[in-house]
Amino acid sequence: MATQPTPLTAVVLAAGQGTRMKSARPKVLHELCGRPMLHYVVDAALAAGASDVVVVVGHGREEVSAALDKAFGAQGKKVRTALQAQQRGTGDAVRCAMPHIDATSEAILILCGDTPLLDPEQLTQLRGALDRAGDAPIAMLTAEVSDPTGYGRILRDASGRVIGIREHKDATAEERAITEVNPGVYLARSGFLGRALAGLTTDNAQGELYLTDIVAQAAKAGGAAAVVARDVGSLVGINDRAQLAAAEEVLHGRIADRLRKSGVTIRTNARIDAGVVVEPDAVIEHAVVLRGRTRVGAGARIDVGSVLTDVVVEAGASVKPYTVASQSSIGAGAQIGPFSHLRPESQIEADAHIGNFVETKKTVVRKGAKANHLAYLGDGDIGEGANVGAGTIFCNYDGFRKHRTEIGAGAFIGSDSQIVAPVKIGAGAYVATGTTVTRDVPDEALAIGRVKQENKEGYATRLKARLKDAAKK
Ligand code: UD1
Ligand code: CA
Repeated sequence: MATQPTPLTAVVLAAGQGTRMKSARPKVLHELCGRPMLHYVVDAALAAGASDVVVVVGHGREEVSAALDKAFGAQGKKVRTALQAQQRGTGDAVRCAMPHIDATSEAILILCGDTPLLDPEQLTQLRGALDRAGDAPIAMLTAEVSDPTGYGRILRDASGRVIGIREHKDATAEERAITEVNPGVYLARSGFLGRALAGLTTDNAQGELYLTDIVAQAAKAGGAAAVVARDVGSLVGINDRAQLAAAEEVLHGRIADRLRKSGVTIRTNARIDAGVVVEPDAVIEHAVVLRGRTRVGAGARIDVGSVLTDVVVEAGASVKPYTVASQSSIGAGAQIGPFSHLRPESQIEADAHIGNFVETKKTVVRKGAKANHLAYLGDGDIGEGANVGAGTIFCNYDGFRKHRTEIGAGAFIGSDSQIVAPVKIGAGAYVATGTTVTRDVPDEALAIGRVKQENKEGYATRLKARLKDAAKK
């Protein structure tokens, strides 16, 4: 029979500096797949059923609190912080969290903020283990590793019962040979935890209050239930940039696997961030990078080397190789690239075409409009079905302010035209090639502003003869 889950609070330890990252940024804010590592730990705690998450902050607390607020603030006070002003050890960190824990919480899940690959399922198993353990006041994960250096070692008695944890720095040579280690994931009954924390001392190699010492106390007070983790990879802690890179690789793989299972084609070396959504039958080609809140609709294709940040791509759109786009939208069936640059607030509507070496910014390109080659289109509105020729420049900036260009539906802008904003070109109007448009153009009118051409018969022959003579002298 399934036991009724007990109210659960999670405590996440995130006050340490993370010296080995060699960074001005607090360790827990270093990102994997576009998200701070701490956020994955908070996610895992919530997914494992925690009703509250108390994050212990210290080093870089303003930054860490602000990042948490940005990501989880919408959930009210569910994710909150406790301050550990001085880092006196993991036991002290949990002590700092205790006053912030809801009194109704019967069990407390303790996690470290530097373990972003945690598997919520494994945390849920811990709840089952504690429920089944009868009198044991704590359940913890343990892991068998080939290189236990740096970890706390699990001490067991002759009958195999866990009796304590020995920190690497405090361990004898014999204890250091133990390969079952403490990944730092515990679930404790709250009454016990309060008493055990009160009993900690700094009598150890580092002069710190070790959280790990509560395990020996638990062993004497009913036992410590240990769950040997099957997926050791999910428990890795990140202490340096190499481990950060390796963990990010794992996360990228997980994201790609999940999307492939949902019907998305993802070729090798594509990098898709955690917050990106991709619908079935989309194709993400080699070395594509999708970041932030990007969404790719069903059947859309993002071709080799494109980098999209916070871009919405509607169904069936085609983004050709080496397109760079940010904070923009691409309508259904639209074609972008190769080598297009959509800067923020570009809105490319359905079936529109933006071609090579075209840069857009704060510009709406309406349904079916085309700008296929070499153009700068800033602060504009290009009407339905309009055609913007090669080399067209919207001269939107006078050195002080930005001005708008409006082009009506079906208008035709000849190649190499400069449109000096603010200006409006009417629906169905023509702008002749090479024109500098400085005044509004009425609907269906032709604007032409170019120097009249003159042909001088035989002039080239005479010119060449003269130049040849000059060279002889
Ligand atoms: C700890 C465990 C060790 C375990 C290892 C797993 C202790 C004494 N040791 O060692 O048994 O094998 O984790 O990775 O607990 N923190 C605070 N305040 C502090 C100190 C640490 O918030 O005063 C936070 C850190 O930011 C970090 C976590 O606690 O997120 C773990 O601290 P860390 O110094 O990395 O502990 P380890 O030496 O790795
Ligand atoms: Ca650590």
